[in-house]
Formats: sequence, C-alpha cells, structure tokens
Amino acid sequence: MANSRLRGLTWWRKWAKKDWAITAVGFSLTVFLFTLISDSWSRRDDSKLNNPFDHTHDLVDLTLVRNAKNTGAFCLDGSLPGYHFQKGFGSGSNNWLLHVEGGGWCNTVSSCSSRKFTRLGSSKYMESQVPFSGILSRDPSQNPDFFNWNKVKIRYCDGASFASHPESEPKNGEKLFFRGQLIWEALMDELLSIGLSNAKQAFLSGCSAGGLATLIHCDNFRELLPKDTTVKCLADAGFFLDEKDILGNQTMRSFYNDVVHLQGVAKSLHKDCVARMEPSKAGFVFLSLDCLFPQEIIKNIKTPVFLVNPAYDIWQIQNILIPDASDPHGDWRNCRLNIHDCNPSQIGILHGFRNSLLRALGEFQKIKEGGMFINSCFVHCQTWMAETWHSAKSPRINNRTIAESVGDWFFDRKAVKQIDCPYPCNPTCYHLDFTQG
Ligand SMILES: *[C@@H]1O[C@H](CO)[C@@H](O)[C@H](O)[C@H]1NC(C)=O
Ligand SMILES: *[C@@H]1O[C@H](CO)[C@@H](O)[C@H](O)[C@H]1NC(C)=O
Repeated sequence: MANSRLRGLTWWRKWAKKDWAITAVGFSLTVFLFTLISDSWSRRDDSKLNNPFDHTHDLVDLTLVRNAKNTGAFCLDGSLPGYHFQKGFGSGSNNWLLHVEGGGWCNTVSSCSSRKFTRLGSSKYMESQVPFSGILSRDPSQNPDFFNWNKVKIRYCDGASFASHPESEPKNGEKLFFRGQLIWEALMDELLSIGLSNAKQAFLSGCSAGGLATLIHCDNFRELLPKDTTVKCLADAGFFLDEKDILGNQTMRSFYNDVVHLQGVAKSLHKDCVARMEPSKAGFVFLSLDCLFPQEIIKNIKTPVFLVNPAYDIWQIQNILIPDASDPHGDWRNCRLNIHDCNPSQIGILHGFRNSLLRALGEFQKIKEGGMFINSCFVHCQTWMAETWHSAKSPRINNRTIAESVGDWFFDRKAVKQIDCPYPCNPTCYHLDFTQG
C-alpha cells in the first residue's frame, strides 16, 4: 500500500512538473487534467493483485445512450452521450448509486469547440472502459456501504453541468450542440428503463462540475422516483464559492456569467431559487446566476444532501481565489502549488477562504437532513478514489473516513456534520504537491 501510494505520488509529481504550464492555461482545462490525473491515481494501486475485488481489474464498459438520437441529446460535437453501468448484487440489487464525472465548464465558443476533440465533448474520445473505485468500487473493504449496489458512472460531455439548452447554440459558423439538459433527461429515461425505476434506495453523486450537476438536478431526480424510494444526493468538491479573487475581482462570477449566457443554463436552475431572488432588482439572468452557486441552491433543495468538500479545495484556490491573472508578479506561485510553501500571510488568506466556506454553510449546517465532511486538506475530488474515500491512509475527521461518514448519514446511523480544524492540524491529510520533480 505504502509503496504503491508512493509510486502514485511520484507519477503525480512528474505530471505536475511537465504539465503544470498547460494546466495553468485555463479553467476548463485544469479540471480536465485533474480528471486525467485522478484516473491514473485510482489505477495506481497494483499491490493487491490477488484480491478478486481489486479495482485495478474492475473495468466497466461504456454504453452509449440509445434513445439520445431521437431527442437530440448530443455531446458538444453531435456524438451520443454515454455512461458505465455495473449491475448490483445480493442486498444491493434494488439500490442505485449514480456518479457524475467532473471536468469544468466552457465559457466561450472556442473553448467549447476545443472540447469537441476530447472526451469532455465527444463520446468518440471516451475510454471504452473505466475502473470503478472508491464510491464506485464493488470491494466491501474499499466501499463498505455501497459495494453491491447498481452503479453508474455518468460521462460529462456538454460543458455546462448537464444544464445547457439548444436555444443558445451558435446560429452560424461553428457547429456546437448545447444539449446538457436533454442529455440528462435521456440518461434518466434509460436508467429508469433498466431498473432504476424500481430502486428502493437511490443515491445521486458527482464530483467537481459533476457535483454541481448533482445539486442542480437533485430534486428533479427525486421526482423521477416513487415516493417510497429513499433518495439522497452527494456533491463532492462541487461547492464552488461565490468569492472574489485576491485582487477583489469577481473572476468566478464573471466566468459563470459567461457559461450561463453562452449555453442557456438559466432554464435548468432550481425554480424555487430563481423565484426567491427578487426579479425587480437586477433582471432574470443576473439573478439566476446566483442560483448556479451551491450556496444558493442548497437553500432550496428539498432532498437530503451531503457535501464533501475540502476547505482548501485546490481547484478553487487556483481558479477562484488566486487565478493566474490575479498574481502577475508570481508572489503566490509556490503557494498555489503546495500549501506547505505558503507564507504566514498567505495562510491567513487561505484561512479567510475557509471561513467564507464555513459562513456559506452556516444555514445548511442547521438542516437536520443535511450532512457534511469539510476536511482541511489541499485536494479536490475525494469520493471516487479508493485512497481518499476509504483506506488506511484516508483523510479522517474524528477518526471517521469519508466513506464511513457518508454511510452513517445515508443510513441514518447518526447525524454527520464533520468540520475539520484549520490547516495544518489534521495529520491524516495528504496535501497535493505540484512542485516536486
Ligand atoms: C482586477 O482588479 C484590478 C485592481 O482592481 C484591476 O486593475 C484589473 O483590471 C482587474 N482585472 C480583471 C481581469 O478584471
Ligand atoms: C480509529 O478507528 C480505527 C478503526 O477504523 C480504530 O482501529 C482506532 O482505534 C481508532 N482510533 C481512535 C484514536 O479512536
């Protein structure tokens, strides 16, 4: 375990050095590369070759959504969207866990168009098989509560967290499909038809942009299922804060504003959230932008929600708090890559970001049905990697892993509002480091 962990980290460091410059190029690309890395991270444990459940051998085929063609539910390039399905067994036969993959968003015609040649915009480029690990694993020692459930990994190929609408497609020039909402509906139809409609328990989850998609579609997912089905949602690293960057610019808000306008996202936002904002104040589009931020969405979601989020989310630090443009002199260069390289005043600013997160969670914390695991690690997605979800080396709060905390909450074993003490107090954290070679 220790050895393979080390190998994985070495790989990470090699990657970090080589590709950091590329990553720094932009928002969507950063998360895209994150997904690549995480894939490789999840494959790195090859120390358990004799374990029949070993996730390194647990590859699951890609399925293209059959009825998508009829409804025009296409990826950005016009190809069919896809998912990976693994059938449940034993006591899990009638339970369903869905996990929506992440991958940032695109905010311009050209950034969306460049996705057409990647797996985030076209099923032509998706892997025909992916490993199922962490929350998707069927190994009980790696995934104690959900191992035998029906499991679906939903592929992301629309560019706006499954919330884009065709009315906004470019009318001339570039052929680009904005069919996120249609993809969501086609996927749900197909999953309902292969057994989801009979689910006794159903759990919608997702990481990063997939975590945001989970929050956007959570109540709608609940409505698709029978009243007596237990339905809950989990957003992993999807709690993107509506915060200014270190120069005081609204980098994230203006990025989301571009995404919403370009891809016609407003129609998919939570109706009660949009209604709650006062239309007289600033107009529909501006106000519905608030409803793309989880801190507003969670005020209206009726379905029980669990939030897994690091207080020092590496993606948020690099793109919301300290985007490239906010650091022209490179004062933050090392700190953005490795939290151990931050000076005391920088740590103070990172703590301020954590405080903003905790403030944004203040009301949610009082909701009885809500659960949370807010650890103080310098990472991003944590649910679908075995190492962070549930292992001897996992991050813990009050000695509970993320898997144990989520299970305690899902099955009402106990209330779970786990909030870690501030960095660097938690020795169980592994902090990602992009600087070593
Ligand atoms: C960010 O803020 C600074 C200082 O207020 C300003 O000079 C700069 O133009 C802003 N940058 C962007 C990209 O808005
Ligand atoms: C933490 O939990 C593990 C089991 O997951 C247990 O073996 C250990 O004793 C616990 N440690 C403390 C300090 O409670």
